[in-house]
Amino acid sequence: MKTLLIVSHAPSPNTLRLKSAMEQAVLSLACDNLSLVSVTAFEASSEHVNQCDAIILFTPENLGYMSGALKDFFDRIYYPCLESKQGLPMALVVRAGHDGTGTVRAVTSICNGLKWTLAQPILVCKGDWQEEFEAQCTELASTIAASLDCGII
Ligand SMILES: Cc1cc2nc3c(=O)[nH]c(=O)nc-3n(C[C@H](O)[C@H](O)[C@H](O)COP(=O)(O)O)c2cc1C
Repeated sequence: MKTLLIVSHAPSPNTLRLKSAMEQAVLSLACDNLSLVSVTAFEASSEHVNQCDAIILFTPENLGYMSGALKDFFDRIYYPCLESKQGLPMALVVRAGHDGTGTVRAVTSICNGLKWTLAQPILVCKGDWQEEFEAQCTELASTIAASLDCGII
């Protein structure tokens, strides 16, 4: 059995929709060999990370950076997971009102330090809300889940 972990900070109705789209995408695949664990960045612990086989990170961009919640997550799990999770397949979704660059740079830098492996192109849902953001999140989560289930990642 493989475990896909979603670690998210979704403080607004739109970000909640994107998080739900990713959860539903994974659950609707009904993979026999895959379980989904979805926790907020504040709830997520090093045990969650150490027990997962792939991770999706989701954060809004606030003040040119990842949410404080996701940064707190990294602060808590960095050393407990540094040795044990090298190569962990990961994906990153950023909801940014205007930009997203600073968040992508910061998260990428930390994940490079952890030696996690990007399994999907980074998705930045940028600008005014668009309905297609949900489909983009669905596709990303489905791809990660199916790849994990099939043993591709
Ligand atoms: C305090 C605050 C700071 C923000 N800073 C940024 C920013 O630096 N870059 C950006 O692209 N969007 C920024 N935003 C917009 C948020 O990323 C966006 O509102 C958030 O992802 C939620 O998406 P929604 O407005 O569609 O619900 C900021 C929003 C708030 C409330």
